[in-house]
Amino acid sequence: MKTIEWRQESSGCAMILLDQTLLPTQVETLEARRIDQLVDAIQRLVVRGAPALGVVGALGVGLILDQASREAWDRERIEAEIDRLRNARPTAVNLAGGVDRVRPLVPVGLEAVVEVGLMMAQEDEANNREMGKRGADYLLATIADRPLTLLTHCNTGSLATTAWGTALGVVRELHARGKIKEVFADETRPLLQGARLTAWELQADGIGYRVLPDGAAASAILGGLIDAALIGADRIAKNGDSANKIGSLAVALACEAAAIPFLVVAPESSIDRATPNGDGIEIEFRSDEEVTTFAGKRTAPLGAKAYNPAFDVTPAKYITAIVTEKRVYHPEQGESL
Ligand code: MRU
Repeated sequence: MKTIEWRQESSGCAMILLDQTLLPTQVETLEARRIDQLVDAIQRLVVRGAPALGVVGALGVGLILDQASREAWDRERIEAEIDRLRNARPTAVNLAGGVDRVRPLVPVGLEAVVEVGLMMAQEDEANNREMGKRGADYLLATIADRPLTLLTHCNTGSLATTAWGTALGVVRELHARGKIKEVFADETRPLLQGARLTAWELQADGIGYRVLPDGAAASAILGGLIDAALIGADRIAKNGDSANKIGSLAVALACEAAAIPFLVVAPESSIDRATPNGDGIEIEFRSDEEVTTFAGKRTAPLGAKAYNPAFDVTPAKYITAIVTEKRVYHPEQGESL
């Protein structure tokens, strides 16, 4: 099933999103026809993952133009709705990047915006396949040309992109070459993108995996069970500092201590060269309930407060390599992007 689909009919336009809040137990789609529905879907993580949000940002501008023509919005309202979409989640630079890429086409019209949005989806898959090859080549050359055991965090697969995936694209490429022994998928508290989504994708592809609690990653790494860890990125600063799902930094520190590679796999569009280092990356904080409840049931005492940053920043000095569709950067060695 597709993560994101665009439908254009005489009755209007719609974005069809595979509802990632329901996976893996229910496979259902959500149809967004109005910008309110789309912003809500982005904020509830119906659709998520930086590259997927880039495409949603671009096509979302199309949805705004469609609603604007149905409801006779003026230019001011259109611009305000585009800003609301752009700011729906602050950390993933791709969302703002997708919106900004099509914004100059707003005066040209809906068709021009949608054409670029759909082109971005195609580019995304091509980029992911390229990153997959580069990442696989890199790991086999730097570790050993044998089946590898890799650790992943969050979900970086088809669900976080439009197809194939970034870090999980490397896993898929290695699997296709017969070079995956096993994948350790961090469950990824508190919303379980690893347990629910990465495991679902790995299972569908017949790739051997185990889900582990985030707290077990360090001992698995220091215990010698893991050859390398791979993550995606929501925003990479010019010096290589990389923001990704909360818990990524702990994985990087364990890899540093164990002297195994820690790779960030992300498209060039996730690099924010206007931000010199990680201090300038805005981190999204989410509701206390995501931490104080589990599957709708309270797990912490009534009134308990939470600390719930959705992302952390891994300093460049702990990143062995950043793999993009264009090249492999070596931030650990002081290479700037
Ligand atoms: O909050 P999420 O699920 O949108 O967070 C996503 C991640 O942190 C991903 O690892 C990141 O966007 C890279 S996706 C290829």
